[in-house]
Amino acid sequence: MRALTWHGKHNVQVDTVPDPQIVNPRDAIIKVTSTAICGSDLHLYDSMIPSMSNGDILGHEFMGVVEEVGSRSTLKVGQRVVVPFVIACGSCFFCGKQQYSACDNSNPADKSDLSEVAYGYPAAGLFGYSHLTGGYAGGQAEYARIPYSDVGPLVIPDGIEDEKVLFLTDIFPTGWMAAENAEIEPGDTVAVWGCGPVGLFAIKSCLLQGAGRVIAIDHLPRRLELAKANGAEVLNYHEVKVREALTEMTAGIGPDACIDAVGMEAHGFSPDNILDAVKQETKLGTDRQHVLRETIMACRKGGRVSVPGVYGGIGDKLPIGAFMQKGLTIKTGQTHVQKYLPKLLDLILEGRLDTTDLISHILPLERAAEGYKNFHDNPNEWTKVVLKPH
Ligand SMILES: NC(=O)c1ccc[n+]([C@@H]2O[C@H](COP(=O)([O-])OP(=O)(O)OC[C@H]3O[C@@H](n4cnc5c(N)ncnc54)[C@H](O)[C@@H]3O)[C@@H](O)[C@H]2O)c1
Ligand SMILES: [Zn+2]
Ligand SMILES: [Zn+2]
Repeated sequence: MRALTWHGKHNVQVDTVPDPQIVNPRDAIIKVTSTAICGSDLHLYDSMIPSMSNGDILGHEFMGVVEEVGSRSTLKVGQRVVVPFVIACGSCFFCGKQQYSACDNSNPADKSDLSEVAYGYPAAGLFGYSHLTGGYAGGQAEYARIPYSDVGPLVIPDGIEDEKVLFLTDIFPTGWMAAENAEIEPGDTVAVWGCGPVGLFAIKSCLLQGAGRVIAIDHLPRRLELAKANGAEVLNYHEVKVREALTEMTAGIGPDACIDAVGMEAHGFSPDNILDAVKQETKLGTDRQHVLRETIMACRKGGRVSVPGVYGGIGDKLPIGAFMQKGLTIKTGQTHVQKYLPKLLDLILEGRLDTTDLISHILPLERAAEGYKNFHDNPNEWTKVVLKPH
């Protein structure tokens, strides 16, 4: 089959690779009908995540039609399914608490040792996301193997197009959990850093969860326009000092909750970000944490900081005093996708939100490398790329 494979920094290509096979009775194979490129894929493209191997198949946002099932899959051949990017067994201690992205079984032991060293406990398996998270082949491919297919995939009713439900794989639940982690009370003001796909779904979710005001921050005009069209007030961080502007807009109090939908590759020329960038380039540091620092500083006393943005390594210069002295709560995590799917599918079917407005380009899988390059180099125009393998 054809699949998008990783070959080092800024080097991905569509290759012919072996077809996936059923290896476990709970597996299913799906024929991928739509898949998307995520901001998280850009961390791989930029070679920021360790433990990638030459030829790894990328892609963790995908859906398709069930092609083949193992003897213990509950899926049926021909069903249309959306596949969560998190691989979860459904029966361990963590899955029992619906903390699916902490699943203890989905990362094979030889691989999970790596994340145990990095994080203290092994990470769960994720599709197409390095050998730290299991080394599973991803879904930017014609076909994909779905482990634990009796737990993860959500069956989609007929008659609703792929584009409307595809983002249930990741960015819609991620934006939703980011809003939930912001513990929004009716009428709250929430500030969201980053108007990429995750930031946009966080904005939509905050408003659906009762926020009175959402203030969105980015510097890309097209992305700020999308945020505005979704009901946010916007700040361009090239034009204003973000913390000062937020204080002024909230009568000196500060936002009730702040969401970091940017993560480890923050842009901008603040001194802390320049220092982080130098450390990243010289391998003395891993993450550019400017936005996390800014959310902590900007948040009101007693407020909440929610971090869907991905961080990978060890941080420094965090305003730990502000965090403690203001009595902030911080919540974060890879999204527990499976937990949210039925509810979020209902919201889509009820027409409660537009899940397609962010899509800027739909390309055949064969042009995936062009999609990566442009999503990376020209994010103002390329706001979300969907790939069609067939
Ligand atoms: N927690 C999860 O499960 C999960 C799931 C999906 C994505 N993510 C992460 O969420 C983050 C966002 O994903 P995305 O797909 O929207 O990525 P993206 O790269 O498309 O968007 C990031 C946006 O942040 C903006 N930005 C950069 N620096 C900024 C700054 N200093 N202030 C304000 N805005 C700034 C960029 O201009 C861009 O529009 C990434 O880190 C991604 O890995 C996490
Ligand atoms: Zn994603
Ligand atoms: Zn589990």
